[in-house]
Amino acid sequence: MSGRVITVTSGKGGVGKTTTTANLAMALASLEKRIIAIDADIGLRNLDLVMGLENRIVYDLVDVVEGRCTLRQAMVKHKGYPYLYLIPASQTRDKTAITPQNMRAVAMELKDSYDFILVDSPAGIEWGFKNAIAPADEVLIVTNPDVSAVRDADRIIGLIETHDVPIPVRLVINRLKSGMVRKGEMLSVDDIIGLLSIRLVGVIPEDENVLRSSNQGVAVAGPAGQAFLNLARRLDGEQVPFQSLEITSLMDRFRRLFNNR
Ligand SMILES: Nc1ncnc2c1ncn2[C@@H]1O[C@H](COP(=O)(O)OP(=O)(O)OP(=O)(O)O)[C@@H](O)[C@H]1O
Ligand SMILES: [Mg+2]
Repeated sequence: MSGRVITVTSGKGGVGKTTTTANLAMALASLEKRIIAIDADIGLRNLDLVMGLENRIVYDLVDVVEGRCTLRQAMVKHKGYPYLYLIPASQTRDKTAITPQNMRAVAMELKDSYDFILVDSPAGIEWGFKNAIAPADEVLIVTNPDVSAVRDADRIIGLIETHDVPIPVRLVINRLKSGMVRKGEMLSVDDIIGLLSIRLVGVIPEDENVLRSSNQGVAVAGPAGQAFLNLARRLDGEQVPFQSLEITSLMDRFRRLFNNR
């Protein structure tokens, strides 16, 4: 079976693309899937750090494309999982060193050997985004529950839907604070789905363990870790209920009922 290329993107910067790519890669690897993550954020590489692999890098994606090494030589093996690899981004080169064609060629070469090829996208809608999206079979849009992140997500969804070949797009809501949603201080999951009208595949709570585990280069544990594992299972085709969504929407309904009286 051919591997699925899933690009993680957002529009707005800093919403959690790299965190999601890294933790999804580790969660899928823990489900014994064969995973390779590609850092397409050329010039600003970060995925290696969040996966704890920064000391093992010899070559990077630009070296592959420019013929200084083979794809195999640029792959960094993760120490914690038998079938998890990373292709790091270059730290020094500018993003125009890679083209959409290069990305498609790299992904094609990997499809036979991996179940999932995860691509971490840079923020924005420029060159780096176009590279990241070029090989995608599917796209995950990461957003935060705030108006500006949702607006940028909407823009990206519009761009992808009008792409020559439309790519299936699904939504990951990151950094949800259920306490604030309950008080009506933050967009709820229902609000965001209503605004974007795309299928939800993951809800990741705000969790202070995320920063700590990213700094240590390990998979996050706790509530966010569970949510990433649920996301991985859903991408793998399992039906996993949205626990926090159910609680939130129930609370929302209750609040609306209460306020209307
Ligand atoms: N669920 C979460 N709970 C708490 N902190 C989080 C969560 N998700 C991400 N963060 C924090 O938010 C910051 C930005 O995350 P990250 O680097 O993954 O975003 P990004 O979208 O890749 O950013 P960029 O657009 O710069 O590439 C990091 O400090 C990360 O630890
Ligand atoms: Mg990033």
